Amino acid sequence: MHLDTDSRDGTVEEASAQYADAVDPHDCSGIIGIVYGDVGTSELKCSVMAPLENGEYVQIPHDTCGPVLGQVDSMERKTNLSLDKAISMSQGEMIDIEEKVLANIVVIGYRDERGLLQTPKAPFKAGSAVTRADDELISKVIGIQQNEKSGAYIGLLNGHDIPIHLDINEMVQKHVSILAKTGGGKSYMVGVLIEELLKHKVTVIVIDPHGEYSSLKEAGKTSEFSEKFGVKPRGYADQISEFSPDTKVNKDAQPLRFTLGNLEARDILALTNVKNIRHALPTMKKVLDMIKANRQSFSMKDIIKTLEAQEDAQNANLIQELQYLDEINIFAERGTKLDELVKKGQMTILNLRGTAPEIANLIVNRVLTSLFEMRKINAIPPMLVVTEEAHNYCPQQGTTACTKIMRTIASEGRKFGLGLVIITQRAAKVEKNVLSQCGTQIILKITNELDLKAVTSSVEGLTTGVTKEIQQLPIGVAIVCGGNIQVPLFVRVRPRETRHGGESVKIIED
Ligand SMILES: Nc1ncnc2c1ncn2[C@@H]1O[C@H](COP(=O)(O)OP(=O)(O)OP(=O)(O)O)[C@@H](O)[C@H]1O
Ligand SMILES: [Mg+2]
Repeated sequence: MHLDTDSRDGTVEEASAQYADAVDPHDCSGIIGIVYGDVGTSELKCSVMAPLENGEYVQIPHDTCGPVLGQVDSMERKTNLSLDKAISMSQGEMIDIEEKVLANIVVIGYRDERGLLQTPKAPFKAGSAVTRADDELISKVIGIQQNEKSGAYIGLLNGHDIPIHLDINEMVQKHVSILAKTGGGKSYMVGVLIEELLKHKVTVIVIDPHGEYSSLKEAGKTSEFSEKFGVKPRGYADQISEFSPDTKVNKDAQPLRFTLGNLEARDILALTNVKNIRHALPTMKKVLDMIKANRQSFSMKDIIKTLEAQEDAQNANLIQELQYLDEINIFAERGTKLDELVKKGQMTILNLRGTAPEIANLIVNRVLTSLFEMRKINAIPPMLVVTEEAHNYCPQQGTTACTKIMRTIASEGRKFGLGLVIITQRAAKVEKNVLSQCGTQIILKITNELDLKAVTSSVEGLTTGVTKEIQQLPIGVAIVCGGNIQVPLFVRVRPRETRHGGESVKIIED
């Protein structure tokens, strides 16, 4: 029986028959199929006669361009088993099933004599043998450079032993996003990235809402994969310092405190949710002038007392907000200096575990604003700010205390060498303007439709096949796009050198 898999010229059947004798179905290195049907310059179909998977790289000969690199975008098994026959089978009847597998290949291209990535201008020939691509062609066409000096080694190209490095300068200049559903492997990936940054003596500050990054101080365990990936366990304690507004909860951290003395009225109001700024600003200025005329160091309680003494009903909301700030104990006579917080080639963890969300936002705003101002005048080294749970700091809907500074760093940070690493499990809930400024994207498994939409609209070059794959990515495989990577790559994330601090909580141990 003829299986009409394609009404266009050429069928899988004909293509398969042509090479049936020549192909050993267990041979993984040779021909995997034959080009058939109507053939284009950017897409083609091929029969499949050897083990093959979505995302694999293949090479197709071309008359004028030489071997051209392609990638399996989707695959399909065509069968003649009808519903009726399937029912008969379930009742014990023996049925012969005729089946053929076809693959849709997207053409990635070839390098011309000037080294530029090109796609053929004329179609491939039907009947051409498609083979598995060799590592040399893949590296050359995709432009994978083994630049260990300025590259962060994040893992191996999936299915190959080609190490993948992300350009660190690109990351600092053009920001990075790490997107996946909860439990998708974001924090593990961030850990890998930070290990590389520390190895390259890059300055990093991590906004850590759950206190999971202090584990980077400790060496991890050797796993069976460590050797294959060339990774040895090690800790980075000598390059890590940790600060927290709540040192009762986070005992290993140094206290993070702000002084009032060098704050202007506008800065203090920025820490509050005061609505009536037109009244509050002149009032606050007056009160601060009165206090500063008598002494240099003062407390929040002094400001509150002076405001209360004015007996103005309009000050009620302002007093209430200041009382709240006083209670959370983030102000002290001596505040944390920025040069204590940021040290060249070191990582600083801002451990916000146990800190109320609105206070965390105020703190992040304060720190990011200072970092941005100090970078502008080159008073601190170029650096990366890793923001876990970024949807809480720059949400798509509404604003928070740090929305403005996050937007500013996203759009202007590249000029000043202040890069953002945006991490979220809800891509749709992060402000689009911030997400779309990220030049490098690391995407792990995402299943929520709204999040997928947000990802595909902010990332260039994702084919339909790759978008489908995002929903099925196994733990430990990432799709990496942008930066120094010219086409989206499937990467097997390397094992961690350090202990991963974000392990899922188990009620029953293995
Ligand atoms: N590349 C990897 N190799 C091995 N295990 C991994 C890898 N990535 C993640 N895991 C495991 O998967 C689990 C979840 O990973 P991780 O904590 O990074 O998820 P997450 O995306 O940060 O989740 P959440 O949104 O809840 O913070 C962890 O227990 C971790 O050990
Ligand atoms: Mg996490």
